[in-house]
Amino acid sequence: MILVSGKEVSNKIKDEIALEVEKLKSNGGKTPHLAAVLVGDDGASRTYVNAKVKACERVGFGSTLVQLDNDISEADLLAEIDQLNNNDEIDGFIVQLPLPNHIDEQKVTEAINPAKDVDGFHPVSLGKMLLHLPSFLPATPYGIVEMLRHYNIPTEGKHCVVLGRSHIVGSPMSVLMARKDYPGNCTVTLAHSRTQNLKEVAASADILIVAIGKPEFVTADMVKEGATVIDVGIHRVEDSSKKSGFKLLGDVKFDEVAPKCSHISPVPGGVGPMTIASLLKNTLLAVQLKN
Ligand code: GUN
Repeated sequence: MILVSGKEVSNKIKDEIALEVEKLKSNGGKTPHLAAVLVGDDGASRTYVNAKVKACERVGFGSTLVQLDNDISEADLLAEIDQLNNNDEIDGFIVQLPLPNHIDEQKVTEAINPAKDVDGFHPVSLGKMLLHLPSFLPATPYGIVEMLRHYNIPTEGKHCVVLGRSHIVGSPMSVLMARKDYPGNCTVTLAHSRTQNLKEVAASADILIVAIGKPEFVTADMVKEGATVIDVGIHRVEDSSKKSGFKLLGDVKFDEVAPKCSHISPVPGGVGPMTIASLLKNTLLAVQLKN
């Protein structure tokens, strides 16, 4: 069994980005600049946004954190987005999800200038992805593709089962794995909460990508011997033996599934760090596409 270390791969990608930034700067180019909008004070969202800002420092990007009150009106948030759209210093920005219930996430996503949509959630970005045109790929699926590439995991002609059909992970993941490309060229099954015989479907996968949002949902009987398993889930579960008071669990019951796998990604240290590396790659692309 080979552990798919997103931590390792993301560090390599960050080193490559840092070199590119040095080159850009020494050629008199602009320092790439990412902004992140955080609405409210959800603990997990704050942690993710802080990690994104820290990653910018690591690769030599500029960064801006726009912190807004939980009760900001939709109109005021849209005005903030308009400012970021029109600020030439900012090459790309993200609005951390989820947003408070009184704000329409789709409206907010569509307000972002597609040229700065480094999360890849805008309909223009998703449409380009579907057509295999150069575009900002959604960070999590993009990170998974890069992990499969790094470990030279064979994908052509394989059966890839994606569990979960969210707009930001499962659906785009299924599109990327079906692309005529490497990684890709898979026969893809997109399974979800209404899938019949989910266990059997999962157990027929050569590559199983799990983004179903339920802690330790995938058990050993749902995995084929020799499969590659990528775990997108991340759940904070109370654990009094930890200093922090919680531990992190994925969507896969790692201890019993790992021995059956050719490759498996852990939680933490798997998909999570790759998501941040992809966001940085997209921000660099935003700068390159401008020139
Ligand atoms: N919430 C969970 N994942 C993401 C992500 O990739 N981007 C944003 N903006 N919000 C998220």
